[in-house]
Amino acid sequence: MINASSPSPRHAPEAQPLPPPVSERPGGHVQQIVNGVVSFGILLCLAELGVADHLADRPRNVTDLAELCEADPEHLHRILRAATSLGLLRATGQPGTYALTREGRTLRQDLPDSMRPAVLMAADPLWLESIRLLPETVRAGRPALPRPTYDYLADNPAAGDLFHRFMRTRAIPVAEAIAKLDFRGVRTVVDVGGGGGTVLGKVLRTHTHCTGVLLERPDVAGIAAQHLAALGLRDRCTTVEGDFFHSVPEGADVYLLTSIVHNWSDDDAGLILRNVRKAMESADRPAQVWCVDLLRPAFPARFGPPPMATILDVRMLGLFGGGQERSQAEYESLMARNGLKVTRVEPFPNDMHLMVATLPE
Ligand SMILES: C[S@@+](CC[C@H](N)C(=O)[O-])C[C@H]1O[C@@H](n2cnc3c(N)ncnc32)[C@H](O)[C@@H]1O
Repeated sequence: MINASSPSPRHAPEAQPLPPPVSERPGGHVQQIVNGVVSFGILLCLAELGVADHLADRPRNVTDLAELCEADPEHLHRILRAATSLGLLRATGQPGTYALTREGRTLRQDLPDSMRPAVLMAADPLWLESIRLLPETVRAGRPALPRPTYDYLADNPAAGDLFHRFMRTRAIPVAEAIAKLDFRGVRTVVDVGGGGGTVLGKVLRTHTHCTGVLLERPDVAGIAAQHLAALGLRDRCTTVEGDFFHSVPEGADVYLLTSIVHNWSDDDAGLILRNVRKAMESADRPAQVWCVDLLRPAFPARFGPPPMATILDVRMLGLFGGGQERSQAEYESLMARNGLKVTRVEPFPNDMHLMVATLPE
């Protein structure tokens, strides 16, 4: 019998099914999670040594590969053997000879959506430190990292360059999906925290009647300007060095916020959204926010490989403290608290979603 104080069955949290046994031995599953660190090391060797590039056109034996990768043949062979059990390489049957699998091929550097920058980024000292310090971050309720992540990237050009290469690979499918949206009536697009310019570049190349403004930190604006100039967009695009916590350029029909809001706490994200709203209010025609991020599923997590939103949520916790993946309801509430109304939500590639927001009527 259900009494008034029990939640109705419709709203009761879903019962969690018992996880199937992963291992006969208690602790076997925990051991598998620990082993992930070593699996990552194997992946890192393939990515950093360029193994996938040297196997791109044909299988090779370990002696040839070691020479091409400038590695010790015996040590490399141990990694190649281990990589076969991870499904990244396969032994061809010829002694000591390996070929790429479909997954291993994604590590090739020459692919625009190569996974190599994602692997190298995960091995960056600050990224690794953010994981090692997670317990401290959780204890303190703020990032335990010695300095803000974007300041670190600004002061370490090699890490910054890698981050922007990594973001570019992630931005390509987003850029393609945005470029397919309806740009009739859109004259100017402001890309807020537009990174290396992948998204704005694609939009302006596809919609030749549009002009664009890319707002970025001073250390990144130059990278974006170079990319946009290389696309031949110098006359239709301006790059603005600035700070979205301070202000956002006025005069746009569309304000892009791709992979921005999830970096920040509600307070910080609110500041960015209010600056966007202020810019929208100053215009003589209605404007829209096009916000693209992952949506955290509202239902309780189930046993199984964690979805990307769960992994990125913890990644944001480690790197940014208040950064987080939000549910659709949390985005709607965040927008509403900062004077914006979500009017449309649609799925985007890579588990992302587009949220269109306007000024309330
Ligand atoms: C996760 S990246 C997303 C980049 C791009 N929007 C995309 O989708 O690829 C976040 C971007 O915000 C920029 N950013 C961080 N703090 C900023 C600030 N205070 N003002 C302007 N841009 C900032 C970073 O430099 C970085 O390029």
